[in-house]
Amino acid sequence: MRFVIKGPNRLQGAIKVSGAKNAALPILAATLLCDGVSVIEGVPRLNDVDVMCEVMKPLGVECRWQNENILVDTTKIRLEEISEKLMRRMRASCLVLGPLLARFGHVKISQPGGCNIGSRPIDLHLKGLRALGAEITERSGYLIAKSNRLKGAEIHLDVPSVGATENLIMAAVFAEGTTVIRNAAKEPEIVDLQNFLNRAGGRIRGAGTPTIRIDEVKSLVGPKGHRVISDRIEAGTHIIAAALSGGDVVVQNVIPEHVEPLLAKLREAGVGIELHGDTVRIWREGGIKAVDIRTMPYPGFPTDLQAQMCVLLAVAEGTSVVTETVFENRFKHIPELRRMGVDIYIEGRTVVIRGVEKLSGAHVEAPDLRAGAALVLAGLIAENSTVVDNIEHIDRGYEALEEKYQTLGASIERVS
Ligand code: EPZ
Repeated sequence: MRFVIKGPNRLQGAIKVSGAKNAALPILAATLLCDGVSVIEGVPRLNDVDVMCEVMKPLGVECRWQNENILVDTTKIRLEEISEKLMRRMRASCLVLGPLLARFGHVKISQPGGCNIGSRPIDLHLKGLRALGAEITERSGYLIAKSNRLKGAEIHLDVPSVGATENLIMAAVFAEGTTVIRNAAKEPEIVDLQNFLNRAGGRIRGAGTPTIRIDEVKSLVGPKGHRVISDRIEAGTHIIAAALSGGDVVVQNVIPEHVEPLLAKLREAGVGIELHGDTVRIWREGGIKAVDIRTMPYPGFPTDLQAQMCVLLAVAEGTSVVTETVFENRFKHIPELRRMGVDIYIEGRTVVIRGVEKLSGAHVEAPDLRAGAALVLAGLIAENSTVVDNIEHIDRGYEALEEKYQTLGASIERVS
């Protein structure tokens, strides 16, 4: 499957952001802790969401779509092994580890796979689970975690890992006494997970800050209608696309505070930005100024927008320096962008980008989700036509991306 894009395009009009993939996935895993039916609203129709439902099905958990909502029924939940094939397809499947351990005291999963953006171990997840009293053995690619009673503990994370913070919150909800997670990740998706669990009867405080407290409860009941927050990374991708194209675009269903790290940088680059409630209007007043970027955990500049930002800086006036501090090799978009005329080179975890006048269309391949999105953005503004292959990666994180850009007047088609 591929996108064929004819450029350059000036984007005009309004598009609406979908629900957040990275909020929906941990919340789906959290339904494993809840009795009865959970109703999650505003869930994006993404492959990764379907994979998470596939992972839970063999456990006797029923996931059913109802328009843009997912109903998850755990009435018949039973302990089963998680399919290795599915675990390898998506790293976020490891988020079932905490809930299953909390609920059954036993879980066997294979080492996670997922996006190829670095080693991405789950050592911090396991270290935290051991602190809660779990006995974890790793054998030939499998993990077996056991505990007849998890006990609350003080856990200090070496790095503010999003997944480890989420897994440990879920593992701790039934643990004896109180658990404190320090140096926790502060991403908005963790606040959404806390809100979901507290609506189910959990007693969690501090999400969004470095210290999260989880007090023991005996059980949770599925909430009937938790709406996931809007996707700040999808919103940021469209905001960058609008700035790139030199058009005038309104992006709707945005939580401004969640995209503030990006907006601050775009203002520095001379991009016009107007906020009205949950909409952001973007236009260009002149050229784009070169700016330097360092990706950091939230509320720093998000690593998930680094590749897209490289495209904007590729056509800026001047030289920019982009440092990726979160993942060790998240530069797979660079060789493909070079083929489109981007003047860029890598020095370790930093890239130096010299702005050029314009990009030229080419036949490129999406290496992973966000690098793929960056190639689409490059194709939107490049002269002539661009073909982006392997767009299955892009479908993991963007709902009908080509339709959204078609409504803004772009010439982009999905071709099998
Ligand atoms: C989440 O991944 C997101 N995925 C990623 O989005 C995002 O890039 C990342 O957080 C950082 O914001 C989901 O929420 C499903 P981490 P996660 O644990 O939880 C190291 C996208 O494009 N680390 O915060 O896997 C790790 O190697 C995806 O939507 C350990 O060393 O990220 C990495 O360098 C891509 N040991 C850093 O921490 C651990 O046990 C951040 O990883 C865990 C992580």
